[in-house]
Amino acid sequence: MGEEPYYGPDFGLLQRQDPELARVLLDELDRQRTGLQLVAGENFTSPAVLAAMGSTLTNKYAEGYPGRRYYGGCEVVDRAERMAVERARRLFGAEHANVQPHSGASANLAAYAALLQPGDTMLAMALPHGGHFTHGSKVNFSGRWFDVVSYGVRRDTETIDYDEVRDLALRHQPKLIVCGATAYPRLIDFSVFRGIADEVGAWLMADVAHTIGLMAGGAIPSAVPHADVVTFTTHKALRGPRGGAILCTDELAARIDRAVYPFVQGGPLMHVIAAKAVGFAEAMRPEFAEYARRVVVNARALTEALAAAGMRPVSGGTDTHLALVDLRPLDVSGAEAERRCAAAGITLNRNVIPYDPEPASVTSGIRVGTPCATTQGMGPEELREVGGLVAGAVCRPGEAREIRERIAALLAIHRPYLSEY
Ligand SMILES: Cc1ncc(COP(=O)(O)O)c(C=O)c1O
Repeated sequence: MGEEPYYGPDFGLLQRQDPELARVLLDELDRQRTGLQLVAGENFTSPAVLAAMGSTLTNKYAEGYPGRRYYGGCEVVDRAERMAVERARRLFGAEHANVQPHSGASANLAAYAALLQPGDTMLAMALPHGGHFTHGSKVNFSGRWFDVVSYGVRRDTETIDYDEVRDLALRHQPKLIVCGATAYPRLIDFSVFRGIADEVGAWLMADVAHTIGLMAGGAIPSAVPHADVVTFTTHKALRGPRGGAILCTDELAARIDRAVYPFVQGGPLMHVIAAKAVGFAEAMRPEFAEYARRVVVNARALTEALAAAGMRPVSGGTDTHLALVDLRPLDVSGAEAERRCAAAGITLNRNVIPYDPEPASVTSGIRVGTPCATTQGMGPEELREVGGLVAGAVCRPGEAREIRERIAALLAIHRPYLSEY
C-alpha cells in the first residue's frame, strides 16, 4: 500500500490502546454536548482548528523565530508561524504579533518581562473588581515581583472609576498601566487609559483575553490603536485553540519577542500555532463578524431575562459577551448557585462582585457568557429562555429535573460538534 499523504488522530486506535483515557475524551465530549455551557471564557473551537491541533507539528522543536531557529528542520513549521503572525497582524491591524505564548498568563508574564524590572510600579485593576489574578494578585508572580497599585470600579455605577485611575497614576507614577479584565461586562475606554498613560509617561498594556474575539469581529472597539502592548487568549470568544498571543508596536517588537523566548518560554507549541493561524483566518470571515455581533446581542437578551427574574446585573447590564450577576437579592450565594445550576445541567462559575462581602470561595455572584451558546446557533429568543432556566435553577432547586429536560430539548436542536458552523 502506498503512503497516505496525511496522518492524523485515530480515535479507534486510542480506544484499543488506552480505553480508560479514551473514555475520558468521550465523556468530556458528552458533557460539552449535553450541558448548557455558560462559562464566559469558553467556546467550541472549530473542527478545522481541532484538526490542526491534533497534528504531527507537535513533534517539532522550534526554539527561536521563523528563519532564526536553534534547531534544524524548521522550514515547514516556519511557514505555519509566519502565517499565524501575518494573519494576526492583518486581523487586528497590529504592527507586530508574537503567537508563541502558551496561554494568557504566559503572554502577561512576557509582556511584564519586556516592560518592567522587578520592583517597578504597575497600576492594574483589582482582582475583586474584575481584574485577572495575573494583574498583581499576591498569589501570582505579578503581585510578588512588582509594586502593584490597584484601581477598581465605583460603588454607585459599578464601572471603572477613571478619575481614580488618573489620581493613582499621578500619585504613584507607574511604569506600566494595565487595562482589561476577566469579569467586567462593560466597554473599557482605552483612549482614556491612553491619555492617562501619556500624562504620566507609562506604558499602556491592554489584556483583552476575554474580548479580543469581539474586537476581531468588530462588535466592540479595538484596544490595538491605543495600547503599546495587547495581550490576549485565542480560546475564548475568538474561538481558536487554547493559547495566548501578544500584539505590539514596532518599537517594542524585539523586546516582546526576546521576553517570550528565551526569557519565559522554551520550545513553541507548533501544532497550536498552526491552529491559531486557522482560527485567525476563520475570524477574518464575514460570518465571524456576524457571530461576534450575535454574541453581544445574545448576552444582552440573557442579561435582561436574568434581571427580569430578580438577578441583579452588576453595572445594570452588559456591552460584551458576559454578565456578572449579584445574587444577594435572592439570598443565594454564588457557590450555591453554581451547584444548583450544575444539578440542572447548566455550567457556569461563581464570581466575586465588586465590594463583595463574601470570600472568593463563596461569592455573592455568578458570571455567565454567550460565546458557546452563540456558536451553537442560539439567538436572543433562546437566550431569553436560558435566562429563565438559570433563574429557575437558582431559585427553585426542586425543579432541577424539569429544567434539565428543557435544556436537553434546547440542545437537541443546538448540539455542538454535530453540524458545521
Ligand atoms: C483577562 C485575562 N487575562 C489572562 C487570562 C489567563 O489566560 P490563561 O488561562 O490562558 O492563562 C485570563 C483567563 O481567564 C483572563 O481573563
